[in-house]
Amino acid sequence: MNSSCKDKTSVLKEDLLIVSQREIAPRIFEMKLSGEMVLDMAPGQFLHLRVPDPSKLLRRPISICQIDKVNKVATIVYRVERAGTAILSQLKAGDRIDTMGPQGNGFDLSVVSAGQTALLIGGGIGVPPLVETAKQLAAKGVEVISVLGFATKDAVILEEELSAYGKVYVTTDDGSYGTKGYVSTVVDELTKEYSFDAIYSCGAPGMLKYVDQKFENHPHAYLSMESRMACGMGACYACVVHLRNAKEAANKRVCEDGPVFETGQIIL
Ligand SMILES: Cc1cc2nc3c(=O)[nH]c(=O)nc-3n(C[C@H](O)[C@H](O)[C@H](O)COP(=O)(O)OP(=O)(O)OC[C@H]3O[C@@H](n4cnc5c(N)ncnc54)[C@H](O)[C@@H]3O)c2cc1C
Ligand code: FES
Repeated sequence: MNSSCKDKTSVLKEDLLIVSQREIAPRIFEMKLSGEMVLDMAPGQFLHLRVPDPSKLLRRPISICQIDKVNKVATIVYRVERAGTAILSQLKAGDRIDTMGPQGNGFDLSVVSAGQTALLIGGGIGVPPLVETAKQLAAKGVEVISVLGFATKDAVILEEELSAYGKVYVTTDDGSYGTKGYVSTVVDELTKEYSFDAIYSCGAPGMLKYVDQKFENHPHAYLSMESRMACGMGACYACVVHLRNAKEAANKRVCEDGPVFETGQIIL
């Protein structure tokens, strides 16, 4: 039976219906999920998925890639890493998945308005949350420019989806597709030409460190962070990151205070 209820921390819990699942690149899967929870979702938030295996006690956090509130369908895109995500990749249309969410703060899109320009920077499996972000920014009339970095051509994902909302630049570490190098190669050139009104980024720690340093004093530059999680709802402090300029040691929980933080805030 499908259930949807608010628990005491106001996180929804629902057995979402898997509408479809397909492999879009080697070891990278797109899963479409349907349920009432979709109506509460915002770009940059994540879902906490229970792996249907009794040995996997901890849920797996996966970002929301696309949101279709009309049909109550959300899309996630994830890479098979180890056992938990491998089990998720075996699920089929018609199965249900025990899901908590939508969790986290998401990207603040209110800081930009029509006629302004936003830069989206994504690395590898950090690209998915940028798709819904781009869609909602474009719908507001914001010009969207995306720079996506991948290891190699086979790993390139979501280029076409993001191209629907603005110009997309792709880099690959080995030069097998797009510009050879890291996202910094393109971003450093673009910033000579554009003064971006907001920057939204998600990717590996090294990429986030670059964005953090490059846009440290920008008033609207955001990093979506990853951290190992347990409860995923702010109670256990398994996911803390540390504030850079706190007078005393201060922590922020990625699951509850993040996963999105402003640049210049967190020790990376
Ligand atoms: C906010 C957030 C959003 C994410 N969004 C995506 C996404 O959209 N697509 C995607 O492919 N991956 C995403 N990840 C990473 C994803 O959660 C891990 O790859 C996944 O949990 C690995 O599970 P596993 O069972 O295959 O690996 P295992 O290593 O067996 O997992 C063991 C434990 O470690 C945790 N863990 C392992 N790797 C990570 C990681 N990188 N980050 C956080 N916890 C981890 C697992 O959740 C689990 O509790 C996200 C992580 C966070 C924190
Ligand atoms: S995972 Fe428990 S507080 Fe973040």
